[in-house]
This record gives sequence, structure tokens and C-alpha cells, in this order.
Amino acid sequence: MKNVEIIGTGSYVPQRIVTNDELSTIVETSDEWISTRTGISERRISLGENTSDLAAKAALEALKSAKLDAKDIDLIIIATTSPDSYVPSTACIVQELIGATNAVCFDVSAACTGFIFALNTAVQYIKTGEYKNALVVGAEVLSKIMDWKDRNTCVLFGDGSGAMVLRAGEEGIIKTYMASDGVKGREFLHCFAAQNKNPFMYNSLDVKDKITMSGKDVFKFAVKVMASSIEKVLETTQNSIEDIDYIVPHQANIRIIEFVAKKLKIDMNKFFVNLNKYGNTSGASIPLALDEMNKQGLLKKGNKVIFVGFGGGLTWGSVLVKWTI
Ligand code: ACO
Repeated sequence: MKNVEIIGTGSYVPQRIVTNDELSTIVETSDEWISTRTGISERRISLGENTSDLAAKAALEALKSAKLDAKDIDLIIIATTSPDSYVPSTACIVQELIGATNAVCFDVSAACTGFIFALNTAVQYIKTGEYKNALVVGAEVLSKIMDWKDRNTCVLFGDGSGAMVLRAGEEGIIKTYMASDGVKGREFLHCFAAQNKNPFMYNSLDVKDKITMSGKDVFKFAVKVMASSIEKVLETTQNSIEDIDYIVPHQANIRIIEFVAKKLKIDMNKFFVNLNKYGNTSGASIPLALDEMNKQGLLKKGNKVIFVGFGGGLTWGSVLVKWTI
């Protein structure tokens, strides 16, 4: 079995910045409430670019940083909860946009844990030798599925994308962990797709095709599984938390991250945080944060980094990686 290394990163966010103050002209809220409850100051909102447009821009940047041509990619996996369409997948659209004509393409749906699931899927395919060079992207235009009248949700989310290029190598991904629970808490975070309404049935479903969330329940779930996922990915690896240089958490709420840092007695400086600028970009948040770290020159060869996410489904997971570039 080969190992898998990350050889390039990229990201893209829409240009339009929406501040908390601007949101307070749309729903009854305030900069003070949003920033103290979540740590978010502003977010990017698409003025028409779709999920595939954001994903393609992040992907091209990741390819450039990996010094690979799009034609070298044989697998594209896109994590998204806000695809362009049911059919085709966003990955197939991105294939055309970037000219990755030799790739197999599909999407993965695991809400805010989507990127962890997509990354792990690509890792397994590369380890078996089935594919050589994979492009994994998290991309969201969540503004399409926001209820802009609901202050409980619309202040939290933003649009953006992040990408990674992976290839077989000697070292890199040390351990991956994924978990799901569709039994308890499926309704904590919800957004219906098309309703079942055909001429052969009567349907009176109250369909909510915008995101709804039970914030307090998600908060309790998030702090629990984020802490356990960090511990899980260290188990059986001969690494302890002291060996970890950075943790790249799903960027949902600064209070969730602070809570986990306190619970596991981890220095807050180990957590990379950029949710103040982008809000919660769901499947895009981890690769967007990682690319920002890479551009800032924070990552050094040999660093050990944990990616950790949680989201609707419920889903959660983590990846422990040795940085090799
Ligand atoms: N502005 C002003 N007031 C608000 C706002 C707002 N934007 N939103 C809610 N409120 C009000 C509520 O109506 C409530 O008022 P009430 O007491 O009169 O009923 C009050 O503020 C307090 O609301 P709480 O829900 O108690 O606030 P809390 O401190 O729990 O913070 C929050 C809410 C930020 C949503 C928090 O629970 C949280 O972060 N939860 C996790 C959310 C999360 O991480 N979601 C992403 C999951 S990942 C994925 O898969 C998408």
C-alpha cells in the first residue's frame, strides 16, 4: 500500500463582502450579537457565480501550486451541499471548466464534514493504486439555500471554496477517521431537496428547501465530536497532542473551537481560525483555511496537522497528516 501526500492547495472566495452591519439591515440582528456569539465579522456572498465556478477557480490554483496539469488528474471529488444541479455532478462540471479530461468525477455529500469524507475517499483510491493524482475540492454557494429571513441561520454561513491535489508518496496522510449518525439528530441541520410530487400520489409535505438548524443541539454535538475526533485520529499512531503543530477545524463558531481547546487542554494558538472573515463555508471551510495557512507560510515540512470537521447528517471526522511540501 502506498501512502498519500498533499502536493498543492488553492482557494477562491467571491469578491462581495457582507459585514454583520449590512446583515442587520436585512434581519433583526447586530454586529455585537453575531461577533460575540460566533466570532464572525463578515462573509463572502456570491453575486451569481455558482458552486462549480468557485470550485474550478480553487482547483486551478491548487493545480498550479502542485505544478500539475489538469490532464494529469485522474480523480476529482467535490464535497458540496449546494451543488449546481442534481445532475450532472458539480465534479463533472468542474472537469470541463478546468479541462481535466482524463478524470473520473463525482460529488460527496456530508454537509460540513464533506471535505474530510471526500479527502478520505481519494486517499483510499490512491492507496490501492487505482488512481494516481486526485483533486479534492470543497465548494459551497450556501447563499442559494439560506433562508434570508431567518436570523438563526443566515448570519452564520458564507460562500467559498478550497482545493487540494493529492498523489501517491512515501509519507503524508497518517490516519483518517469518519463517523455518521443518521438516527439521532438528523433534524438538527436540515435542507430538503425536491419534494416527491408525482401525478400518482397526494403529497401534503411541508417542504423546507432552505437550511434550518437547531443551533443549541448542533453546538452540543459539535463540541463532543470535535474533541473525540481529535483523540480518535491520534489513537494507535504513536502521536500525542503535543506532537501536533496545527489543528485546522471546521470553521463554524469560535466558541466551539475554544470549548474544545479547553476540554482537551490544547493551546488555542494551535487552532487555525479564519471564520471571522468567511463565516461557516461548510464543506469548503477546512481546505480554505489550509490554503490560507499555506499562503502565509505557516506550514513547514514535517509539521503534523489535524483536520477535524462535523456537520449535518450527522457526520464527523478527522485526518492526521504529515506536511511534506
Ligand atoms: N441576532 C440576534 N439575536 C439572535 C440571532 C441573531 N442573528 N439569532 C438568534 N438570536 C436570538 C434568539 O432568538 C434568542 O432569543 P430569545 O432568547 O429571545 O429566544 C437569543 O438570540 C439566544 O439564542 P441562542 O440560540 O440561545 O444563542 P446561542 O448562544 O446558543 O448561539 C448559535 C446561537 C450561534 C447558533 C450557537 O448555538 C451555535 O453556534 N450553534 C452551532 C451552530 C453551528 O455550528 N452550525 C454549523 C454546523 S455545521 C454544518 O453542517 C452546516
